[in-house]
Amino acid sequence: MKVKHFLQFNDLSKDELEYLFERTRLIKQKFKSYQQYWPLTDRTLVMIFEKASTRTRLSFEAGMQQLGGSAIYLNTRDSQLGRGEPVEDAGQVISRMSDIVMIRTFEQSIIERFAANSRVPVINGLTNEYHPCQILADIYTYIEQRGSIQGKTVAWIGDSNNMCNTWLQAAEILDFNVHVSTPPGYEVEPERAGLYGHEHYEEFKDPMEAARNADLVTTDVWTSMGWEAENDERLKDFADWQVDEDMMAVAAPDALFMHCLPAHRGEEVSAGVMSSPQSVVWEEAENRLHVQKALMEYLLLGKIK
Ligand code: CP
Ligand code: NVA
Repeated sequence: MKVKHFLQFNDLSKDELEYLFERTRLIKQKFKSYQQYWPLTDRTLVMIFEKASTRTRLSFEAGMQQLGGSAIYLNTRDSQLGRGEPVEDAGQVISRMSDIVMIRTFEQSIIERFAANSRVPVINGLTNEYHPCQILADIYTYIEQRGSIQGKTVAWIGDSNNMCNTWLQAAEILDFNVHVSTPPGYEVEPERAGLYGHEHYEEFKDPMEAARNADLVTTDVWTSMGWEAENDERLKDFADWQVDEDMMAVAAPDALFMHCLPAHRGEEVSAGVMSSPQSVVWEEAENRLHVQKALMEYLLLGKIK
């Protein structure tokens, strides 16, 4: 049987996503009411980090333990991955000793090569191109707060990075619209974003126009992990792309604000917007735990009848 991976958002169909969101709701409910739920007893998750993390590590490790399994943390510094062992060999070996693997790395091609050699499901915990687990949490958070995202407008303000690409893929599957505004020179690259069409997104030169009437305004750091050498240049190039109170004022009256975190107040978002009633950043972070529990359950056990 073919192993099911989650390497990019469109690895899951609309039907699978709807199933996952429903499981997330139930699994979250169990967690909130202190009900023990151990469907993954004796299963082992290996987490491989080639970049820093707080939320991703914590949510996967805690999530696996809460489902009755255990999690092992590996990083480039203390494993042979940092000393040039081919990723194909790592895929063969690690997947013989575990039940499921999560990887945070640089190029998408690295995780794809690992997965092609893995006997067990592989989950993308962030690559240069995509951050699919975060968008699962973000969309679940939207649904929880406002209902279906179908037909809604998400304004993406800032860098066309891994988060932006994943929003664009999600819009194609779940039928909503993304208004993107990036500074010149930082525009969306459709092929890199894994897009098939241009139907679900529109680009705006002016970030205020992208945010106008949006149901959700979202942004991310101006300098992602791996691009640190460009930081000074980016601080200048992105200066007019801050989500602030004036920008939220042109969005829909009940618009939400999201940020995957970590945030840089005073750069991509003002301190006021971060702590405004429209901001759901803490709910968004918490929901990483619940959606990823549903994801691991699905990849390992399939649909629960
Ligand atoms: N949002 C997110 O992935 O956070 P970490 O980098 O802390 O894992
Ligand atoms: N775009 C950011 C997200 C961090 C969670 C990065 O890749 O660094």
